[in-house]
Amino acid sequence: MDQEMNSPFRYAGGKFYARKLILEHVPYHSCYVEPFAGGSSIFFAKVKAERNWLNDIDDELINCLMVIRDYPEKLIDRLKSEKATKERHSYYKNIFKPETELDYAVRWFYLNRTSYSGIMNRQNCYFGYGDKYSMRPENWPRNILRTSVKLQNVKLTALDFEEVIENVEDGAFLFVDPPYFNADQDKFYTHFFKKEDHFRLCDVLKRNNNRIKFLLTYDNSPEIRKLYKWVHSLHEKEWNYTLNRTDDQKNGTDRKGTRYKGRELFIVNYDSVKQGSLPLPLFAHKTLKDV
Ligand SMILES: C[S@@+](CC[C@H](N)C(=O)[O-])C[C@H]1O[C@@H](n2cnc3c(N)ncnc32)[C@H](O)[C@@H]1O
Repeated sequence: MDQEMNSPFRYAGGKFYARKLILEHVPYHSCYVEPFAGGSSIFFAKVKAERNWLNDIDDELINCLMVIRDYPEKLIDRLKSEKATKERHSYYKNIFKPETELDYAVRWFYLNRTSYSGIMNRQNCYFGYGDKYSMRPENWPRNILRTSVKLQNVKLTALDFEEVIENVEDGAFLFVDPPYFNADQDKFYTHFFKKEDHFRLCDVLKRNNNRIKFLLTYDNSPEIRKLYKWVHSLHEKEWNYTLNRTDDQKNGTDRKGTRYKGRELFIVNYDSVKQGSLPLPLFAHKTLKDV
């Protein structure tokens, strides 16, 4: 059974709100790979390919996906009587000492579903659950089961992206969604992505350019435009998103429906011009003079 569904996780920097725009650019493929999977919102939003590979350097995230794939009932059993409260959040964050892979998955799933924006970086992981806006614990089991179905036969690894990209099969399609180049996104993730890592990513994509197709998403910055001037085309994209709830533990505010704009570059090494999406010349951006 194949289902187009939402990610089981809340994920900072996730592409949930951009999924329709991204899916318009996805070419035909039989092998699908995400070297920076995070919440894998594109994998979950699309029809499953014949072969699929999700990778993220965050081994606790990947362990949680593995447990969902292979032992959904055990995870459900451990979570079924949980309540989403500050006390339980604090228990899992500060007191609970995981010993087994299942323990780690229980902690990861609980904290992800109950933390503000799903931020798992310990220093920025605060309780952020509201009955009106978050998935309620009584719905977690159904979500875990659906996710488990979709993850069957999916390859899951916790490697550095370079090892993945060098080893994907010829003709694979890669959705590449690294941390932003110019942003403090690193406060969200458990592994720090350095400037050298961005250059390393550019090099490995260039080395494999002739044997794979990739759609790379990045913040719209002059440095990235310059770095990727060798790629087939570049699209400037904008989308709206709404944060239904911010539950900031420090001031207890509950702002509903705050609107934001996502602005990014889609960098693709194949022909993907779609209705309403005009490719831009690489040097058309006015801020390029700042490079
Ligand atoms: C922007 S997020 C991906 C979001 C994802 N596309 C989604 O929709 O949820 C970037 C991810 O890259 C991962 N990451 C950071 N450094 C990495 C590395 N060296 N190799 C692989 N993954 C890495 C982070 O753990 C994070 O999950």
